Amino acid sequence: MPRFEPHPHRRPALIAGASSGIGAATAVLLAAAGHPVALGARRADRCEELAETIRKDGGEALAHPLDVSDSGSVARFVSAAASALGDPEIVVSGAGDLGAERVHELDSEDFAAQLQVHLVGAHRLVSHVVPGMVARARGDVVLVSSDVVRAPRTRMGAYVAAKNGVEGMARALQMELEGTGVRASVVRPGPTMTGMGMGWDAETTGEVLQEWVRWGLARHPYFLRPDDVAAVIAAVVATPRGTHLTLVEVQPEAAVTRPAAAEPAAVSGGEGEGEG
Ligand SMILES: NC(=O)c1ccc[n+]([C@@H]2O[C@H](COP(=O)([O-])OP(=O)(O)OC[C@H]3O[C@@H](n4cnc5c(N)ncnc54)[C@H](OP(=O)(O)O)[C@@H]3O)[C@@H](O)[C@H]2O)c1
Repeated sequence: MPRFEPHPHRRPALIAGASSGIGAATAVLLAAAGHPVALGARRADRCEELAETIRKDGGEALAHPLDVSDSGSVARFVSAAASALGDPEIVVSGAGDLGAERVHELDSEDFAAQLQVHLVGAHRLVSHVVPGMVARARGDVVLVSSDVVRAPRTRMGAYVAAKNGVEGMARALQMELEGTGVRASVVRPGPTMTGMGMGWDAETTGEVLQEWVRWGLARHPYFLRPDDVAAVIAAVVATPRGTHLTLVEVQPEAAVTRPAAAEPAAVSGGEGEGEG
């Protein structure tokens, strides 16, 4: 008798923030792996377009409006997903946006609004989905954090606070879920080319980038693609039972700038060498 039942082949997955970027790429990848996916975001039309594409490609997908800053909206999303696709096996918390204000210049209501989406929004998903997972003794929760927890950036104070909150909550959750069969994992991406920050005007973007260079935060100009992060999320949930990837940080690899080392010289002294 194995220590753990293997994952079922079909694992209904709820994805918050599925209208673009990492969430959209995760929906496509999980659907391609045979899992039914529920795509949630405020732009439900964009979720529906992607769901349609997934269905055309043979996958199972439902699009439903979702605002993670509203508990009623989260409850409706979770209930619609469960009715259409079955009990959730996977939930991915990937909704979010960010401003570019300095902490002392940021209105406290705007600060609280960012926490509402990134931190309380993640908690709303957990509180609506995890009790059922615990009752079924199985499930994967993926909380998308950010490398700003390890290396904070200027002009992102509310975001840095929220993501630190997400990881703190995740650590407590992991302890509380130990032995329940439910795995909570943090995926911590570095810079990723998505819709995030694309609302900043060119002047703000230039200023912010210069600040980050001054703080040593821009080592090379490469970004992850949403697919790269989605592949990590898919790997975290596909990890066989008995193993738990608790925290995975993913960074863009730098371009190769050093020439490959020359082939090592052939070792002399073999049979017949040096004779005659
Ligand atoms: N891009 C990066 O460099 C980076 C790095 C580290 C971590 N992350 C994290 O990765 C996650 C995904 O972001 P992304 O980079 O893929 O950005 P993105 O392309 O802008 O996607 C963000 C998603 O969140 C949704 N969203 C925003 N507010 C929402 C709300 N109140 N309720 C429901 N959905 C909401 C957006 O859809 P609607 O606008 O349609 O609601 C969108 O689908 C975020 O948690 C972000 O913090 C990103």
